[in-house]
Amino acid sequence: MEKLAITGGRRLEGEVRISGAKNAALPILAASLLTDEQVTLGNVPHLRDITTTIELLGRLGVRVTLHEGLRIEVEPGQITHYEAPYDLVKTMRASILVLGPLVARYGRADVSLPGGCAIGARPVDLHVAGLRALGAQIDIEDGYIRARAERLKGTHLLLDKVTVTGTENLMMAAVFADGETVIENAAREPEVADLADFLNKMGARIRGAGSNRIVIEGVRRLHGAEHDVQPDRIEAGTFLVAGAITGGHVRLRHACPDHLEAILSKLRDTGAVIATGTDWVEIDMKGRPASVDISTVPYPGFPTDMQAQFAALNCIAGGVATISENVFENRYMHMLELQRMGANIRLQGHTAVIQGVDRLTAAPVMATDLRASAGLVLAGLVADGVTVVDRIYHIDRGYECIEEKLNQLGASIHRVA
Ligand code: EPZ
Repeated sequence: MEKLAITGGRRLEGEVRISGAKNAALPILAASLLTDEQVTLGNVPHLRDITTTIELLGRLGVRVTLHEGLRIEVEPGQITHYEAPYDLVKTMRASILVLGPLVARYGRADVSLPGGCAIGARPVDLHVAGLRALGAQIDIEDGYIRARAERLKGTHLLLDKVTVTGTENLMMAAVFADGETVIENAAREPEVADLADFLNKMGARIRGAGSNRIVIEGVRRLHGAEHDVQPDRIEAGTFLVAGAITGGHVRLRHACPDHLEAILSKLRDTGAVIATGTDWVEIDMKGRPASVDISTVPYPGFPTDMQAQFAALNCIAGGVATISENVFENRYMHMLELQRMGANIRLQGHTAVIQGVDRLTAAPVMATDLRASAGLVLAGLVADGVTVVDRIYHIDRGYECIEEKLNQLGASIHRVA
């Protein structure tokens, strides 16, 4: 199993390009199932989750051509299969995103239940309830969601919880439904808006994406389209924290500052100097960061996907911070690993109290989920000695060439078997 060896103590300086957003590319790739014409996507990150999604589309009968650079051509043509099998879904829960498009266009889908993961049970009851409300017949049997539908009928959906992929699945399911569908309490994440932009380029009629009320007017069919995926705001936030934790000076290109407001606000609270432009963000961290309290909530609030990164930053900050994870029920696994590096963390239910220490010490640590891995890499950047992070297949799912990009900024990281 591959590991990352990180030699701590290097101040990061320089410029790095932010890749396309994984969590926008995944639903957009799924949405290509809604047309039989060619779709061309740009700025798609080269990540394991993208490869998994391409493999899944291939199993459904879709032809995907990967061009050099970051362009992907998808030719759905005539789908021959309607199943997202367990062996694929268990490696990537976002496979659930083919459910809405398959039901919308073909009236059938057999998608394995994703099951839980390290950060929580992660049920999909809201996806299922929404599809039933749109008129799909759904049976949950032998670990699969088996959906059948003649023709979906537009309706008024009120989501009990804010769910990102739930909102995306239901928005895609509604594009051909008879009449109008309203999704209340919709997720407002920028990736939802990017998906809606892509669907509207294909001829869908969607208004309000990015707000908590989305209106979808059913159309007869969708045509092919070209679309460049928006920058990855979580990768951007991760590299900004890398600059802050090492007291460095880092500039991000191809970033979208508008998607980073909650993150930039917290970084300013640590004492970092932040400058932004239309497609760039720069952080200059002079001296020791101040501790900052974090409470994760749906967008536009502070994102749960940045919680582990700020936990690492608070470990070496000057002061005491509380971190409250309110989106997932078990997203503190990285805290136990940070404690092994000498962090002073006290876990109290949904809250972690972190007293900043002067030094972390390198230790062999284990990644448990995508963003926890990132938090441990950031801690390794400032720990005394060589930190070895194990199970980094988690990190390869969501960060394109993370060690190359960090080494480009002056870090010293290499893969070890
Ligand atoms: C998306 O996951 C992201 N993944 C996650 O990023 C991100 O952490 C999460 O949104 C929250 O922002 C993708 O977009 C592919 P949710 P998703 O449905 O959609 C509960 C990463 O690191 N819920 O918004 O699965 C759920 O248990 C990943 O890239 C239900 O109860 O998350 C959770 O507590 C990790 N029933 C809360 O809602 C449902 O039917 C938010 O989950 C659906 C969700």
